[in-house]
Amino acid sequence: MWFSTVSKAFLGLSILSGVTLAAQLSRALTTTALSVNGRFIVDTSGQRVKLRCLNWAGADKTKIPEGLQYQPVDATALWIFENGFNCVRLTYSMDMALDPTQTVHAAWVQAAGSTAYLPELMDTFSTAVGKNPWLQNASTLEAYGAVISALGDHNVMVIMDNHNSHASWCCSLDDGNGWWDTDAVYNSTNSRYFNTARWLAGLQFMANFSLSHPNVVGISLRNEIRRGEDQDVDGTHAAWWDNIPVAAATVHAGNPDALIMIGGVDYFNDFSFLKTKPLNRSEFDNKVVYEYHTYSWGSDAFGDAYVTSSTQTNCTPFNTYLDEKVGYLLEEGKPYTGPVWMGEFGWSQVPQNDTTEEVYKTCLIEWMSNNDMDWSLWALQGSYYFRTKEVDMDETFGILNHNWTNFRYPGFLNKIGKMWITNINV
Ligand SMILES: *[C@@H]1O[C@H](CO)[C@@H](O)[C@H](O)[C@H]1NC(C)=O
Ligand SMILES: *[C@@H]1O[C@H](CO)[C@@H](O)[C@H](O)[C@H]1NC(C)=O
Ligand SMILES: *[C@@H]1O[C@H](CO)[C@@H](O)[C@H](O)[C@H]1NC(C)=O
Ligand SMILES: *[C@@H]1O[C@H](CO)[C@@H](O)[C@H](O)[C@H]1NC(C)=O
Ligand SMILES: *[C@@H]1O[C@H](CO)[C@@H](O)[C@H](O)[C@H]1NC(C)=O
Ligand SMILES: *[C@@H]1O[C@H](CO)[C@@H](O)[C@H](O)[C@H]1NC(C)=O
Repeated sequence: MWFSTVSKAFLGLSILSGVTLAAQLSRALTTTALSVNGRFIVDTSGQRVKLRCLNWAGADKTKIPEGLQYQPVDATALWIFENGFNCVRLTYSMDMALDPTQTVHAAWVQAAGSTAYLPELMDTFSTAVGKNPWLQNASTLEAYGAVISALGDHNVMVIMDNHNSHASWCCSLDDGNGWWDTDAVYNSTNSRYFNTARWLAGLQFMANFSLSHPNVVGISLRNEIRRGEDQDVDGTHAAWWDNIPVAAATVHAGNPDALIMIGGVDYFNDFSFLKTKPLNRSEFDNKVVYEYHTYSWGSDAFGDAYVTSSTQTNCTPFNTYLDEKVGYLLEEGKPYTGPVWMGEFGWSQVPQNDTTEEVYKTCLIEWMSNNDMDWSLWALQGSYYFRTKEVDMDETFGILNHNWTNFRYPGFLNKIGKMWITNINV
């Protein structure tokens, strides 16, 4: 039954095979651009396309999408398609975008640095080359492009996500990637890597890069914007208003066909501020999609996040919180109306004895089903090459098992139930 709802817009694409890098880079799919009609994403014929995506991480120090040491890229792309997901949110760092000719090999040597991890990490590189021979001499951007092409071969759409500036695990208030360095308050702890000019240059470069990858249907501007304690203290989000429209215009100029994914503040937990001051989208030709993230722990450092509780007996409090923070944007006919894409959410795929997480899961699935949301689960990857000083780190939130062979938790598709279904068509 999962196959029956695969977007009609993409059924017409031919499925191609072959995994040589040159072939992947030169392949041109003919896809249709998406745009926005009220609160829905639609194709060029006006039919609704519901995004059911998986996050595929690629913004850590190793600078390329994860998992290539476990599977040929084509096998993972096929797995995604066969299980009915129609898109991937593929993350990258500005360190990658602005140094696109660095070889993967060099990036990995750099990632390990002078640490004891070097032999172990380079063994992983050799394993990855064994599974994906084209990686041998590839640059990091070529590897990113090869993953996009493999997804395109299997009719899977891609949203390119700038996850951070400095390639690393994301996100905290001291990783230096959180907030524009050009804000009136410069806080090095939170902004030391977030060079605004380099960010815009990277977006421009990647938007242009996406032109040669027709299955890239969207570009998100920056992951989980977050202010330091001394930044944006008046709560007007002035730096957001200064920078987001400029970035959106940059992306739109670079690839006028791409959707533009825009998130709010506080790790994308807060989009309430558009209610009284809508974003003027008139120059973006019905391309803007709102992006929101939520996890069971909440992540708003300023204390107003809703955290689900094990003593909750119904979903009303959590769902009301979501309505106020972002759900109101789905109401038709308002100056702010637009699609909301739940660009990150997720839970441990290993069943936990954690009632709080159960409440979060149940209530979020209910809310997203009732709202017929577009979404992207965190995460596809069952493991990381090298995350926070650990080689081959396990990802318990990964829908794939550690070795990327199949579901970590076989009941996943049943668990999400109605979230899958397109109830409303336009
Ligand atoms: C990588 O480059 C080396 C040296 O130029 C060459 O001998 C080798 O065939 C290349 N490998 C692949 C897989 O392209
Ligand atoms: C866009 O990319 C093409 C190569 O694909 C390059 O020739 C062109 O200069 C780039 N344009 C910009 C504005 O970067
Ligand atoms: C900068 O932001 C961090 C993270 O919010 C905070 O801990 C720190 O106190 C801030 N620095 C100053 C000087 O306020
Ligand atoms: C939105 O921007 C356009 C183009 O810059 C402008 O003409 C229009 O007046 C703006 N709309 C509002 C409501 O400010
Ligand atoms: C789950 O946690 C509850 C409360 O802490 C405990 O009583 C129960 O035995 C646990 N169940 C399992 C399967 O671990
Ligand atoms: C998974 O990969 C590890 C190497 O990282 C290997 O030791 C293990 O045997 C693999 N497990 C399966 C089921 O293939």
